[in-house]
Formats: sequence, structure tokens, C-alpha cells
Amino acid sequence: MTGFTIKHNELTAAEFCELWGTVWGEPPKIAQTELAMAHTLFRVSVFDGEKIVAMARMIGDMGLCCYIKDVIVRPEYQSRGIGRLMIEELLSFVRKNGVQGTEVFVELAAMPDKIPFYRKLGFDENDAHRLKMMLPAGE
Ligand SMILES: CC(C)(COP(=O)(O)OP(=O)(O)OC[C@H]1O[C@@H](n2cnc3c(N)ncnc32)[C@H](O)[C@@H]1OP(=O)(O)O)[C@@H](O)C(=O)NCCC(=O)NCCS
Repeated sequence: MTGFTIKHNELTAAEFCELWGTVWGEPPKIAQTELAMAHTLFRVSVFDGEKIVAMARMIGDMGLCCYIKDVIVRPEYQSRGIGRLMIEELLSFVRKNGVQGTEVFVELAAMPDKIPFYRKLGFDENDAHRLKMMLPAGE
């Protein structure tokens, strides 16, 4: 994979929303995305020249558990190894920053058609189900 620039912790809220819109439709509000970027442990973004083509981020506590979120490769750049590269970058960040001699629980949620992608990268499933709620904030 040549010709791409990989950036660490530079992903902006505007870039996040732009990429989100290429695959998932209406993005979140910019203010909540800014707050999210500020509280993210590690952000990876990939550029083709000036154009952002992919992003992924890691949230968590670093010591015990980390959670992979918002892995997106712009549709016309998919299937070129960029998704794999970003996951490897996130995992490398945990390897370098976790407590030596321990293991960190790295998890994520994936739609069924993306599970083979994550399996190829070393993830497997357990029996836990994802529970969710959309909670109104800012009251
Ligand atoms: C899922 C996604 C991140 C994969 O990124 P990508 O750059 O296309 O994937 P890569 O080219 O790095 O693929 C790495 C390997 O996984 C395989 N793979 C990728 N997507 C796959 C899928 N949906 N099913 C099966 N295998 C897949 C590739 O064939 C490749 O295999 P290889 O190493 O044996 O050649 C990308 O398709 C995407 O952004 N999709 C839309 C957003 C999304 O759904 N994100 C995931 C949220 S959980």
C-alpha cells in the first residue's frame, strides 16, 4: 500500500462527519463529534493527497479494556488493505501503551457481514450480546 499518508490523533470532527456520510448517511452533530474526538484514546486517519479516505478510533481505559469504533474506508478505497492497516495501527497503540506483562480486552461491535473482516485480523466472537439505548443528553 503506497501513496497514502497515515496520521495519528489528527482526525477532526469535520473529517469524521464527512467520512461517516459516505457509508452511514446523516452524521452526528458536530458539537458531539468534537467532544467525542477530544475523549478518544487514539485516532487513525488515512489520506490520499489532501483527501481523507479512511478513519478508525480506539476508546477505552488503556489498562483493562479498549473498544474499536467507527472504522470507515471511503467506498472507492475499500479492498486495498486500508481497513487492515488501521486495525493494526490501533492494536499496535494498545500493545505499546498497555501495562507490560498484561492483556488488554479489545472489543468491538460488528454487523454480521463485517465479522469475516475482523476474524481475519484475529478477533473472535463470544456469547455476550450488545445492549443499547439512545439517551438524550445535555439536560
Ligand atoms: C469493513 C471495512 C472497514 C473493511 O476495510 P477494507 O479496507 O475494505 O478492508 P481490507 O482491504 O483491509 O481487507 C482486509 C481483509 O479482509 C477481507 N475483508 C474485508 N471486508 C470483508 C468482508 N465484508 N467480508 C469478508 N472479508 C472481508 C479482505 O478481503 C482482506 O482479506 P485478505 O487480507 O485475505 O486479502 C470497509 O469495508 C468499510 O469501511 N465498510 C463500511 C463501513 C463499515 O461497515 N465499517 C465497519 C464497522 S464494524
